[in-house]
Amino acid sequence: MNDRFLRACRRQPVDATPVWFMRQAGRYMPEYRALRQQYSLLELCRTPDLAAQVTLQPVDAIEVDAAILFSDLLLPLEPMGLRFDFVKGEGPAFDDPIRSAADVDRVRPIDPEAALGYVLDTIRQLKPRLEVPLIGFVGAPFTLASYAIEGGPSKDFARTKAMMYAEPEAWHTLCGRLADMAGTYLRAQIAAGVDAVQVFDSWVGQLGPADYREFALPHTRRVFEHIAGLGVPSIHFGVGTAMLLEDMATAGSDVVGADWRTPLDRAWQLIGPDKGIQGNLDPTLLLGPWSRVRASVEDIVNRAGGRPGHIFNLGHGVLPMTSPEVIQRVARLVHSLTSAKGR
Ligand code: CP3
Repeated sequence: MNDRFLRACRRQPVDATPVWFMRQAGRYMPEYRALRQQYSLLELCRTPDLAAQVTLQPVDAIEVDAAILFSDLLLPLEPMGLRFDFVKGEGPAFDDPIRSAADVDRVRPIDPEAALGYVLDTIRQLKPRLEVPLIGFVGAPFTLASYAIEGGPSKDFARTKAMMYAEPEAWHTLCGRLADMAGTYLRAQIAAGVDAVQVFDSWVGQLGPADYREFALPHTRRVFEHIAGLGVPSIHFGVGTAMLLEDMATAGSDVVGADWRTPLDRAWQLIGPDKGIQGNLDPTLLLGPWSRVRASVEDIVNRAGGRPGHIFNLGHGVLPMTSPEVIQRVARLVHSLTSAKGR
């Protein structure tokens, strides 16, 4: 088993910097688009044979050092009582978003084995087929709550923040339930076999530091408390978090993910030397010329400075118009720049 990724999560020395890509399975891959001709996103996620196949597509095609379970952040919301579908070209759409304190009462706890058994079956199917570690994931309470409240994607998160400020008790009740779901669900993924987990707080950069500490951090911390002591490394990721990294580093993960807006060495200072860092190439850069991609990859590797604990990734997910060849080249470049013979 290639254990570079797990070693880097634990800040142990590695033979080369591990690489994986958020959204490494998805629309930029012709193999994925071919399957999507036949199946909806939810069908892919809910059919273990297909979800396992999609998880493996980038692992077979690209030199990545970890696989990420093919699933979606929003799947647990449905059994909790929040029905949604993915609408072509628009993203998720919820039937009855949470709009009041009374709505929070209909958010139920779940038993992951009963409610999301298909995800756990996918993990069990994948494990014997993988030579790299498998990453499981959940959404952090803030990001999940924002979908449940907005009912879909949002630019300003106005309804979410309005509930936070105007009905703090309802907000904390909702996020407490989401945190316990996320923690329980991660435990189930770990029991099924994932080797590491990532908590996505993709939209938490909407908050300033004081609001982050009051409304988001305690709930995210609770998610990490659920898995503390299980020996499975954890990554905590968000976008637009330059001002939040120091606080995020106190939530309880082993590694903190940074987006591309903060130079990697600066981000690592904020996170602190006792944590690993994941990141942080701008995903849109992959649409530009190779000379620029190459220079940015070199810059990130130099800023990591050979210190144990760097996992190379993008600052957010691979964009659908990215060329698979460029992704492959980036992975090879990181490996060659950081391997003993490349140095
Ligand atoms: O390869 C991987 O990273 C694993 C698979 C994965 C998906 N979603 C599959 C997916 C992961 C880790 C996610 C997490 C996820 N889902 C997040 C957090 C990550 C992030 O990007 O910050 C969020 C916010 C969601 C919710 C979600 N899922 C939205 C808003 C959308 C629509 C927007 C879009 O890109 O189309 C999705 C759809 C989705 N989930 C796709 C994939 C591959 C697009 C697929 C398709 O239509 O075929």
